[in-house]
Amino acid sequence: MQAFLKGGTSISTKPLKEKTATSSASGSDGKKPKPVPWVEKYRPKCVDEVAYQEEVVAVLKKSLEGADLPNLLFYGPPGTGKTSTILAAARELYGPELFRQRVLELNASDERGIQVVREKVKNFSQLTVGGSRLDGKPCPPFKIVILDEADSMTSAAQAALRRTMEKESKTTRFCLICNYVSRIIEPLTSRCSKFRFKPLADGIQRQRLVDICKKENVNITNEAISRLVEVSEGDLRKAITFLQSATRLTAGKEVTDIVVTEIAGVIPKDTLNSVLAACQSGLFEKLETVVMSLINNGHAATQLVNQLHDIILERQDLTDKQKAAITEKLAEVDKCLVDGADEYLQMLSLFAVVMQQMTQNS
Ligand SMILES: Nc1ncnc2c1ncn2[C@@H]1O[C@H](COP(=O)(O)OP(=O)(O)O)[C@@H](O)[C@H]1O
Ligand SMILES: [Mg+2]
Repeated sequence: MQAFLKGGTSISTKPLKEKTATSSASGSDGKKPKPVPWVEKYRPKCVDEVAYQEEVVAVLKKSLEGADLPNLLFYGPPGTGKTSTILAAARELYGPELFRQRVLELNASDERGIQVVREKVKNFSQLTVGGSRLDGKPCPPFKIVILDEADSMTSAAQAALRRTMEKESKTTRFCLICNYVSRIIEPLTSRCSKFRFKPLADGIQRQRLVDICKKENVNITNEAISRLVEVSEGDLRKAITFLQSATRLTAGKEVTDIVVTEIAGVIPKDTLNSVLAACQSGLFEKLETVVMSLINNGHAATQLVNQLHDIILERQDLTDKQKAAITEKLAEVDKCLVDGADEYLQMLSLFAVVMQQMTQNS
């Protein structure tokens, strides 16, 4: 216990340092950007700062006030605050000193096979802990094991976890985080309170981005912010990362929606229109040159599949049947691309179907 306390005090200066670093960075006119990714710099520090996920925040706040914490399962799309929320909650529960002793965080980059679950996680969860912090404030008498990206754990490792989870419920709470709840085995999901993290609403994302721009003195147009929100599809991490890249690229000049489009790798509307025009022409040679130029311009086929999907759905000149045929092909191409198929051939085959459907119409 003594060593445990000493360890705590020696680390305790660290969070303070971090704080001064960030505040001085934001005050430095954004001239010499500190090498901190903005996603980390603007990660919510406490549960209240987590935007939009009201249910989770409400439950966590209750347990921060002293109620017991259930085992948790957070799921939802990337960049919606899952990791940030539990880290912030743990930090509030234990304070910076105890945090390292009380919280075991394992994510996909750590070894989490069945062996680790049997040894590391089990040993950690078996330790009992007291109910007060170094500064005398009460804190819950349990530890937290965070298993981030739990959907990448093998089902054997997940199975090994269930007994530990039950047996050590006196001393440990688990927080599983994943994108796809269906990849977590049923016995585990039924032991946890499930919380779905929603993709962030556009307004909330805007607000966050505007705040960051203000703090970093970024000169940005309104359209650029809208574009950021649009391309990131509810993933705030993506939006913030794009914003930082765009700011680097323009180096002090105004960030416009054109820059954002370029950074995000979105295929410009004109390019897509010319591709569809080629499809409509019914000439295969034309199609071939268009696809070649897509490849030469470095556009990614997966991006094309995503954008084409939206466009096809909105087109008035296609019947439902034609749309169905095209979207089925889109799905097939998407799967092939995931499996590592050749981009050129896949695009050609996709557009061949589009062409077939479009020319049938006339
Ligand atoms: N609900 C949210 N409230 C505030 N910031 C958020 C929220 N969701 C995501 N972010 C921002 O996105 C970044 C990544 O969030 P993170 O919690 O790692 O997402 P994930 O759900 O993928 O674990 C954070 O650093 C934070 O800046
Ligand atoms: Mg995460």
